[in-house]
Amino acid sequence: MRRKRFQGILAAGAALVLGLLEVSAALPTAGAQSTSAAQAEKPRVAAGRDLSGKNWAMPSIEQKDGRYALLVDGAPYLMLGVQANNSSAWPEYLDKVWPAAEMLHANTVELPVYWEQIEATQGKFDFSVVDQILKQAREHHQRLVLLWFGTWKNGSAHYTPEWIKLNQAKYPLLLNRDGHTVDSPSIFAPAWLEADKTAFSALMRHLKEADPVRTVLMVQVENESGVWGAVRDYSPAAEKAFAGQVPEKLVKGLGKRPGTWREVFGKDADEVFQAWFTASYIEQVAEVGKAEYPLPLYVNAALREPFNPGKPPSYESGAPTDNEIDLWKIAAPSISIVAPDIYMPEFAKYSKVIDLYRRKDNPLLIPETGNPAEYARYVYAAIGQGAIGWAPFGLDLSCYSNQVEGPETMEPEALKSFARQYSLLAPIARKLAEGNLDGKVRGGSEDAENHTRTLDFERWKVVLQYGMPSFGDSMKPKGNSPADGGVVILELGPDEFLVAGHHVRVDFTPTFEPGKKRYWLKVEEGGYDEAGKWKTARIWNGDQTDYGLNLKADENVLLKVRLTTF
Ligand code: DGJ
Repeated sequence: MRRKRFQGILAAGAALVLGLLEVSAALPTAGAQSTSAAQAEKPRVAAGRDLSGKNWAMPSIEQKDGRYALLVDGAPYLMLGVQANNSSAWPEYLDKVWPAAEMLHANTVELPVYWEQIEATQGKFDFSVVDQILKQAREHHQRLVLLWFGTWKNGSAHYTPEWIKLNQAKYPLLLNRDGHTVDSPSIFAPAWLEADKTAFSALMRHLKEADPVRTVLMVQVENESGVWGAVRDYSPAAEKAFAGQVPEKLVKGLGKRPGTWREVFGKDADEVFQAWFTASYIEQVAEVGKAEYPLPLYVNAALREPFNPGKPPSYESGAPTDNEIDLWKIAAPSISIVAPDIYMPEFAKYSKVIDLYRRKDNPLLIPETGNPAEYARYVYAAIGQGAIGWAPFGLDLSCYSNQVEGPETMEPEALKSFARQYSLLAPIARKLAEGNLDGKVRGGSEDAENHTRTLDFERWKVVLQYGMPSFGDSMKPKGNSPADGGVVILELGPDEFLVAGHHVRVDFTPTFEPGKKRYWLKVEEGGYDEAGKWKTARIWNGDQTDYGLNLKADENVLLKVRLTTF
């Protein structure tokens, strides 16, 4: 059955979520802004990426005036990611991962590499699972971020091979102040570091060989390193180190005066000590891995509450928490990014975490975030703050849900709210990444407490209102219920913008000519064709622009807006 052109486009996002793939087959090509990331990549992959072995550019991180881009195939790339559940990166289970990624319209899948699997016998490496992951990712037109579940996984050593777990004399666990063993590695025993360095460098060496087409974009070194249940290690070796002087590198880097840990850091000494040795250990692992294959490397953080953090061990001690980012930067120069795992649904907290981790010396990457629907809108805030990537956690079809308050199981229905945003953003992902490097992107997510927000460009203020009807301006915005709106705006040129969002009213006010008002020159709805050329489907005017740009419906609408004043 032939559908009307734009109905087909607008239905595509929802239809893919339901697995009705034949609907997307019926999509027109020109102006079709709703194709999935995987689809958007497909023609390029088929036509442009010769997977049989050209010398593809290494993924890398580019910096411009404190803004960042992840370069993939030589150009800025926005990771619209998804992280699979912890136990989903097995060949038998990968078929639960790729369909979810496709339904989501994700372009990158984050998957763990398990130390216990690749080195079940010490010194004998088995990369068959990694190879399956690479092969299947390519077949499914996905890029990968691999997560090294090595010495630490959520502060514990649970992914270490049996030969480590069974030899606790050589690979001890940490002792707390009372001398009790804690479920976390005691890294002052040198065998830990040597074993992890050997395994991680073997992995990176293998990736260099096995991935000439750069399917893997980045590697996360360890997972939420640090310790739960103790502030620091009190083993005899740790105690000896704690009695010593703070290394000069740290003292100098932080602008402190030399002394013992207690003398320099007072009541924070235990936490800082643990952070320094954790970060220094990870630096040494990262360094040998990077020497084998210089992919961008990052660490992820289990966060502390951003407004009232309390003291460890109420949060993970020694971790790359916001108070320790400076230290991690000094200790671990081989790590390009200190990245927050954001499991805080409240707008104020989410925004604060972004502020804390987005720094001139630290690209913003959110490698994990919650998967209940309320998190989906935060992709806009992340991109608007310059994120190079964002990924909800645990969205695969293995029927496991990690969320206390989220969906019971991850059925396709649970993916919908994320798919809605990604299906809109995927076709313009590269443009947004490029715009972010140039400082041309702003974005916002709905705050349930505050229904009007503004975004500032050089010449224009953008007013966002949530919960307005599409017609009329005499009423006050009442917010969406639930709060699920968001928008990104890309400055395309002087007084010209690309607008993409859901459940929001967008309007512009000139700031360069006080007293003047915005005058729509032209508002075009359309999309980019495969060559990146804009195709106009229709011009919005009349009721569609008299009360701002109302992106009220679930449909995916891209607007190109040209403005003047009167
Ligand atoms: C954060 C960890 O990094 C993930 O591996 C996973 O355990 C989630 N927490 C669970 O919500």
